[in-house]
Amino acid sequence: MHDIIRQLDEKRQKARLGGGQRRIDAQHAKGKLSARERIELLLDEGSFEEWDMFKEHRCTDFGMDQEEKVPGDGVVTGYGTVNGRLVFVFSQDFTVFGGSLSETHAEKICKVMDHAMKVGAPVIGLNDSGGARIQEGVDSLGGYADVFQRNVMASGVIPQISMIMGPCAGGAVYSPSMTDFIFMVKDSSYMFVTGPEVVKTVTHEEVTAEELGGAVTHTTKSGVADLAFENDVEALAQLRRFIDFLPLSNREKPPVRPTADPADRMDESLDTLVPSNPNQPYDMKELITKIVDEGDFFELQPDYAKNIVIGFGRMEGQTVGIVANQPLVLAGCLDIKSSIKAARFVRFCDAFNIPVVTFVDVPGFMPGTSQEYGGIIKHGAKLLYAYAECTVPKITVITRKAYGGAYDVMSSKHLRGDVNLAWPSAEIAVMGPKGAVEIIFREEKNDPEKIAAREKEYKEKFANPFVAAHRGFIDDVIMPHATRKRISRSLAMLRDKQLDNPWRKHGNIPL
Ligand code: HXC
Repeated sequence: MHDIIRQLDEKRQKARLGGGQRRIDAQHAKGKLSARERIELLLDEGSFEEWDMFKEHRCTDFGMDQEEKVPGDGVVTGYGTVNGRLVFVFSQDFTVFGGSLSETHAEKICKVMDHAMKVGAPVIGLNDSGGARIQEGVDSLGGYADVFQRNVMASGVIPQISMIMGPCAGGAVYSPSMTDFIFMVKDSSYMFVTGPEVVKTVTHEEVTAEELGGAVTHTTKSGVADLAFENDVEALAQLRRFIDFLPLSNREKPPVRPTADPADRMDESLDTLVPSNPNQPYDMKELITKIVDEGDFFELQPDYAKNIVIGFGRMEGQTVGIVANQPLVLAGCLDIKSSIKAARFVRFCDAFNIPVVTFVDVPGFMPGTSQEYGGIIKHGAKLLYAYAECTVPKITVITRKAYGGAYDVMSSKHLRGDVNLAWPSAEIAVMGPKGAVEIIFREEKNDPEKIAAREKEYKEKFANPFVAAHRGFIDDVIMPHATRKRISRSLAMLRDKQLDNPWRKHGNIPL
């Protein structure tokens, strides 16, 4: 008996070494942790249960039958806990054939995904891979497709999170791209469909891997990734913090974390947040951090489409999704990028029973040929569609401008907003006074006095929340300092909200 136990121990030791100490050292030299070290940092200490440690590839081509087989085949899989809550994980091991995906490697990933679906728990993928295992050909491609299919079936059922911690290229990018959130590590990770060499051949552009698909590129230019972290350790620590905001599946309500922050906490500084000059910007993030529990706001995509802010916070301990126009950037107007950014976020919240709190200060949709040619009609409609189909509790607070179509879009009463509040500084109208007067009193445009009087009249009539409040489109006009209390109460009132959309196979969101 002792012998078999010793043999098992030896087998385990061998498997834990992956591609060997030399390759682990090379990984460290690049500033990267090994697949197992990453899992250790991600999960609660001692909670990891590993599966398929001894699984091996079955490839015999290109001398693969001559090489010594590495148990585990380049990916470490299993489950464990993050702050006591169950998660499934796979961590690609770059020291084994560059973390490349073989048929058996894919089978291991599929196994954890299938279990995650059965029990209702998130899947976290730590990606570090040279792509399809070249020696395996179509077997590897089939393996990818098996993972893709599961990504799609799991979408909206369990949260799926991708942490890109090394290469992720070619068709391999499409698994992370179908997960809910993509995080990347600066300088050591990249994602692209075709690498710099192919780009050079086809388009004659010279670009480095980092410029083409590094963490900064994807969190500032393409919007593919949600956040960029400095290194593996920071990335995994923040991932733990992030998981705490999410429900484990769509069968659950969001997690509740006890807080000492009183629900009725007043913040007098909010009374002076909105400047008296309507053209002067202010930082919407100041409002968000003053409203949520303990100022703890987990912002997503902070460096992409900055004219809209999205992220998670908590109210009375319960997770809420926050969407807010940002007057500091492009005056907070809606454009293609910001509409897509917020729409996807609202749909995530809706899929996972997370209430949506929307702060509105929007002068309208961004004008211009680049927006029209880029399809603002279709892309702006994404956000409208997302809010309109959303059935989770929706609270809206208009702090200042709510003009035109953007008023309708931003979780208005008309799109089944449950509680719609406005600050006294709110201006709810078809457009700003200047533009409005220039159109409806065009014949008076050469008479500055008359125009000024018309502007004043328009302003008095519409640059306030009361016209909308008279119609019931706004449930109440509130004191800015009491915003946290009013939102908390509304959320508590809505806790058992029930609203179903009519049955259909699926809607047809303007993609
Ligand atoms: C098999 C691979 C591999 C792969 C790397 N290795 N990629 N083995 N299949 N795809 C092996 C290397 O042979 C090497 O083995 C070890 O992993 C480390 O690789 P290095 O090249 O030494 O590392 P590095 O210099 O850091 O370069 C990393 C890399 C490079 C940029 C990822 O390895 C590379 O370009 N690999 C090929 C990438 C690729 O073309 N993949 C297919 C893409 S198409 P030893 O034994 O020396 O340690 C694709 C289609 C997916 O993925 C389709 C889905 C629908």
